[in-house]
Amino acid sequence: MSFYIAGTGSALPEKVVTNDDLAKFLDTSDEWIYTRTGIKSRHVLTTERLDDLAIQSAKKALEDAGVEGKDVDLIVCATMRGDTYTPSLACIVGEAIGCNAPAFDLNAACVGVLYCMEVADAFIASGKAKTVLIVSAEAMSKLVDWTDRSTCVLFGDGTGAMVVKAGRGRLAGELSSDPDSHVIRMPNFEGLNSPYNRNEQEKLAIYMDGGEVYKFAVNAMGRNIEEVCRRANLTPADIDWYLPHQANVRIIDASLKKFKIDKSKVLLNIAGCGNMSATSIMVLLDEFAKKGTFRKGDKLLFVAFGGGLTSGAAIVEWNKD
Ligand code: ACO
Repeated sequence: MSFYIAGTGSALPEKVVTNDDLAKFLDTSDEWIYTRTGIKSRHVLTTERLDDLAIQSAKKALEDAGVEGKDVDLIVCATMRGDTYTPSLACIVGEAIGCNAPAFDLNAACVGVLYCMEVADAFIASGKAKTVLIVSAEAMSKLVDWTDRSTCVLFGDGTGAMVVKAGRGRLAGELSSDPDSHVIRMPNFEGLNSPYNRNEQEKLAIYMDGGEVYKFAVNAMGRNIEEVCRRANLTPADIDWYLPHQANVRIIDASLKKFKIDKSKVLLNIAGCGNMSATSIMVLLDEFAKKGTFRKGDKLLFVAFGGGLTSGAAIVEWNKD
């Protein structure tokens, strides 16, 4: 017994920052950013709280699925950083929807939602859950150095959610890691005033070797697509819709090239959202689900890579009621 996607939701900050807006305080241009990445604008948090947006996403997904908060058996939230270390974002969402089920956050950077799917699958397969709420929430604007043009132009903020229920849907999943902590790195806060701590505080901002990430991403996405198709006994041509992590259009094109996939099957929203880390594929899923893109029985392939370095893929048949 695995799961199907019963409902989706998303919520983004109101403020939209264009490439031209960034060029007002950075040595960059719309032309440079768009041609290198496919990004035109991104949503950025101003006065909103990330947890409020995550709650909005969760409520929309529950409504879409026709499920009440009290009937959720597990909440798992993909995030690198909630508004508080504790309570976890998953617990904050649980409180808001009236759910007393187990709830925890999971950090696998941009691949977080695929890890959450694996956890949901395991809880459902073991009989511990029938309905799982997966939430994703990222405040990338609070992690980047806004004076570093090589990273801050790439990211956006956002939240998403899906309700999954026991039944036929997820056909296969594949997760892997190629540990290399120097390629993408965001140090943690060292602490306020321990008299014993002798460590120096590293700069609190994302560091990234863009070229190395690019090479890793192209290889990992190709490898994960092949492996997840093999596990589902399918070929890449059998997939109806590709939902790749939205980090860079050139990475997506390069990793899918060898499979000769019709470009109309590859879903994108990077132009208006940038890279929202774990939440990218959730917002993408919700956007195209609400447009009525998916038909019953369609095979959706999710594929992502991120800090760690982590990567993964999943194939889910669209069997929403
Ligand atoms: N505007 C103008 N110039 C810039 C900018 C900018 N915003 N950023 C960097 N540059 C400059 C650099 O300083 C460098 O200049 P130099 O050659 O004088 O030193 C030059 O542009 C680099 O140019 P390219 O090497 O041609 O850039 P490239 O085509 O490699 O694109 C990019 C860089 C977009 C970062 C690319 O390598 C990439 O997308 N990598 C993957 C990044 C990624 O996916 N990150 C997210 C993964 S992690 C996660 O999802 C949480």
